[in-house]
Parts: sequence; structure tokens; C-alpha cells
Amino acid sequence: MDHAMDHDRLLHDLMEFLRIPSVSTLPAHNADCRVAAQWVADELRRLGCREVELLADEHHPVVWGVGPAVPGAPTLLIYGHYDVQPPDPLNEWVTPPFEPTIRDGRLYARGSADDKGQVFCLLRAIAAAGRPPVNFRFLIEGEEEFGSKVLFDLLEREPERTKADAALVADTAYVAPGWPAVYTGLRGMCYAEITVRTAKSDLHSGEYGGAAPNAHEELCRLLGRLKTADGKIHIPGLYEAVRRPGKAELAAWKRLPFKEADFLKRRVQGKALTGLKKYSVLERLWALPTFEIHGIMGGFTGVGAKTVIPAAATAKVSLRLVPDQKLKTVERQLAAAVKKLAPKHVTVSVRFLHGADPAQIKLDHPSFKLLDQAFKQVTGRGTVPARAGGSIPVVPALASAGAPVILTGIGLPDDRLHAPNEKLELKQLWDGIEVFRTFYELLGAQRDM
Ligand code: BES
Ligand code: MN
Ligand code: MN
Repeated sequence: MDHAMDHDRLLHDLMEFLRIPSVSTLPAHNADCRVAAQWVADELRRLGCREVELLADEHHPVVWGVGPAVPGAPTLLIYGHYDVQPPDPLNEWVTPPFEPTIRDGRLYARGSADDKGQVFCLLRAIAAAGRPPVNFRFLIEGEEEFGSKVLFDLLEREPERTKADAALVADTAYVAPGWPAVYTGLRGMCYAEITVRTAKSDLHSGEYGGAAPNAHEELCRLLGRLKTADGKIHIPGLYEAVRRPGKAELAAWKRLPFKEADFLKRRVQGKALTGLKKYSVLERLWALPTFEIHGIMGGFTGVGAKTVIPAAATAKVSLRLVPDQKLKTVERQLAAAVKKLAPKHVTVSVRFLHGADPAQIKLDHPSFKLLDQAFKQVTGRGTVPARAGGSIPVVPALASAGAPVILTGIGLPDDRLHAPNEKLELKQLWDGIEVFRTFYELLGAQRDM
């Protein structure tokens, strides 16, 4: 087929997928999540899947597919997610998040890089390869951005779904332009709401101010005690399980095309980096736990001025976990620390929303060589091993099910995931399809993996 026409068609179809506002965490978008699931299911049928099902249908469904059977050929499980993060703040988008637009060779839309664009690459690469001799299995879920609980439960009930020679996950990025990566680790996650209550109801700040406790003030102090300005997290026991990367791994990170000054200037675009200064920035991003405040609710935040002492305040926070921390332990440690650090005159509670263990992956299976070869053939450079600071909750479960999990991605570090003006570069998209096509062809040529 004519190349340009081919690209037009692919862009047209990807844009259709990106137009669906499948924001999994907002109940107002439940119907949109279903439309996105249907879109994926239709796509799997177009690829010739014999079995296509929407599983766990009472939630955002998991799309399951089984490709045409090729006796004796390897089985590859493809994982991805069709859900996206909320697009706010909307006024910072140059063009609206769910109206995909191309500017300067980049496709701007929520989900372009995370993860619809990458799922699209994985799927269209199958068509591009002309149905390669691989037994494909598909698990494309709709709650990744909200902790993947449905999928956890599903895989616990039906672990045979993950049976494969390898699992391929494309939900990350190159480490730098021109530097494809394969990931040996993902951080885990512990997401919680901390609520502080100081009185039965809000009070007039003139009548009571000076003598009554203020919930926001108490919450701020509590948060300030949980993590101090030097970047240290004051949760007793938190760092005990943390295993530092080995010498060889730290040395390899030094050779990656990553400059701390560039990271500050071009990516963070702030005035200084923060955190535990005695560790390198990559170690802080990939191998140390974090504590972040995502938002604080309560009190008066409307237009104008209201003089009130809020009686309750809630912070949404999360910790990122690293090997060998365990979600269950960290939940206990956070709850205990909050109790300990709050003064006697306030009532505090912690509610856990979702979480995941950290993931660790060994690159010792032959399929990692095939991925390296595919990237080398298409982009001129093979994969460098790296870790990622982000989380993909289901990966530890996939890995413990036995199949090697190949974690890679075709995005770039500045794609602005979860932020305004998320984008995917078209070159990454076209190369990505070629890379996965080549990978499937190489894999299809293997017997007895
Ligand atoms: N694709 C990301 C994870 C990611 C981002 C890995 C960048 C590597 C580099 C994924 O969609 C994501 O955002 N996951 C959430 C999971 C959480 C809500 C449990 C995350 O990391 O915040
Ligand atoms: Mn993702
Ligand atoms: Mn994401």
C-alpha cells in the first residue's frame, strides 16, 4: 500500500480512539470507558481474533482477545490500557485534550502516549506484519490509571489467562530521543486520603480565631512532619526494606544519556531539584520511595473571600515504593505514622484508595534479545536497560505468573503524561509500529521458547 495513504488511515483510526474521553477515575465517564473498550474489541476482531470478550463487565471492562491459533508457535500476551487520566487543567491545553491535533509532527491528545497510542502501535503492527506466526493473547484494561483492581481480581480467579511464553507491555518511553529502553523495574504505589477533623463544624474566624483549632493548619503541619524539606520521609520503618541498586546498575545509569541539569531545565522547567541530595537524581527517581501531595480539599476555595475556620481538611497523597518494599507493610506504616504525628486534639483518618507492589524484572529470557534486535533494525540502536519511576500495577502479578514481562515503550521522556498537552511524536508512532512488527516476525521464527 502507498505509504502516505497508509499513514493517513492509521492517524484517522488512532484519532478516533483518542477522541473517546475514557477517564477511568471519574464516574461521569463510565459510559465513555465502555465505548473505548468496544473500540478495542472491534479492533481485535479486525485483527482476526477468534475470541473477543469484555470481562468483569460490571466495571470498566477488561478486553480479552485470542488471536488465530498457530500450532507450535510461541504465545505472546499483549497488555495495555485504554483508560486515561483526567485532562485538567483544561485551560492549559493549546488544543482540547479529546480533539487530537497534529502540530509540528506531534500528535497532541490525552492518551496519545499513555497508553492509547502505544496500544494502537502494538495492534497495528500485527496487521503490518500480515498476521505473523504468533499465538496472540490480549488483555487491554480500563482501570490502570486507578489501580487495576478489576484486573487483579480477574487474574486471581482466572490465572490461566496470563499463560504465555512472554508478555509485552508498551506503556513507557525511550530514556532519551534515539535511545530505546527495556525496563528492569517499576515503582509501586500506595495512594491514600488523609483527613483531619478539628471541630464539629466550620466556625466564624473572627468569633473563634485565635482560640479554635484550624483543620487546614493542622493538616499542613502534619504533612510537613511526614516529609521534611530535605526530602526525608518520616514514616518509621519506611526505608528499612529499601534495597539500593548494585554497583554495576548505578554505574550503568551514569552512562545513560541523562544530565541532571537538562532534566531541571528542559523537563522539570523549575528553579531547583529537590529530594535526598546525597543520591543521584536517577536514584531518587527510580530507586527511592517518594511521598507526594496531590491535592488538598476542604475549607473555602471559591471566588471571593469567606472568613471561616474549616473543621475538616483532606489531602490526597501517595507514596511510590521500590524493591523490596511491600504495599501492605507501607499501608500499615503510613497509618501508624499519621496517628503518631497528629496532635491529640485532632481526629485523623487514613483511607487507602489503591496501590501496587514494585516490580522487578530480569532480562534473561531470549525474547529480550529479539526486542533489542527489532529496535536496532528499525531505529539503529538497541534497548538500554533502565528503571522507571512510574507504576503499572498489574506487572508484578504478570511477572509472578511466570512469563517474562517485556516492559518497553515508544514514547519520549517529554511526552507530558498526566499533564496538559500530552503528545506523541509521529516519528515515534511510525517507528513503533515497525519495531513491534519486526519483533513479532522475529518471535514468530522461534520454536521451543
Ligand atoms: N504508563 C504509566 C506508567 C509509567 C509512566 C511508567 C512513565 C513508566 C514511565 C501508567 O499509565 C501510570 O501512569 N500508572 C499510574 C499507576 C497508578 C495510578 C497506580 C502511575 O504511575 O501513577
Ligand atoms: Mn500508562
Ligand atoms: Mn498513566
